[in-house]
Amino acid sequence: MAMKLKRKTPVPAKGNAKDHIRVMISRERIQKRIREMARQIRKDFPDEPLHLVAVLKGSVFFLTDLARRIPGNISIDFIAVSSYGNSTQSSGEVKLTRDLDSSIEGKTVILVEDILDTGMTMQYLLRVFEQRKPKRLLVAALLDKPGRRLTAVRADYVGFTIPNEFVVGYGLDYAERYRNIPDVGVLKLITDSPKPAKSK
Ligand code: IMP
Ligand code: MG
Repeated sequence: MAMKLKRKTPVPAKGNAKDHIRVMISRERIQKRIREMARQIRKDFPDEPLHLVAVLKGSVFFLTDLARRIPGNISIDFIAVSSYGNSTQSSGEVKLTRDLDSSIEGKTVILVEDILDTGMTMQYLLRVFEQRKPKRLLVAALLDKPGRRLTAVRADYVGFTIPNEFVVGYGLDYAERYRNIPDVGVLKLITDSPKPAKSK
């Protein structure tokens, strides 16, 4: 029997001992939900080859776990986009920085995203992909932050709906860090600035 890990204390972030990550979704819950999503996807498309496209880099972890849980014919590809802005706020301007290796024409494509936030990235990708004439185009997002949405896009498959908090882990980064944490957690940045002196 698999050992159940109970984690009540925050996971100290390895990159910076001072930052703390409060676990929001444990690795066990993530894996359980991915198994359910995979089952649902195959149930919806029982006999079809499915072409999974991950949006680099955050979605790679989700793609590899999801792909291994979907039985039958699966192919994978990658695309990369960059959104201009700082690391916790996306600006809405999206640029394609790495294109697909193979054509998606006539394929049943599932765009695999780590998180739907404002939806600007997904809106852009859906527009680009639609022009390439896939047979079907669907979206699987591990996390959904509907409270931040600026567009009408929605995912066909959602792992977890979460509140408006900046999360890291399981592929999600803060300035390229914390992707390797197996849980999804809320990042608490602890700054070095001294506390303001209390007035007497
Ligand atoms: P959107 O275009 O605003 O929907 O943002 C999508 C991208 O922003 C995701 O693929 C992530 O790379 C990044 N992002 C949005 N929210 C978070 C978060 O809470 N943590 C880490 N990255 C995030
Ligand atoms: Mg990112």
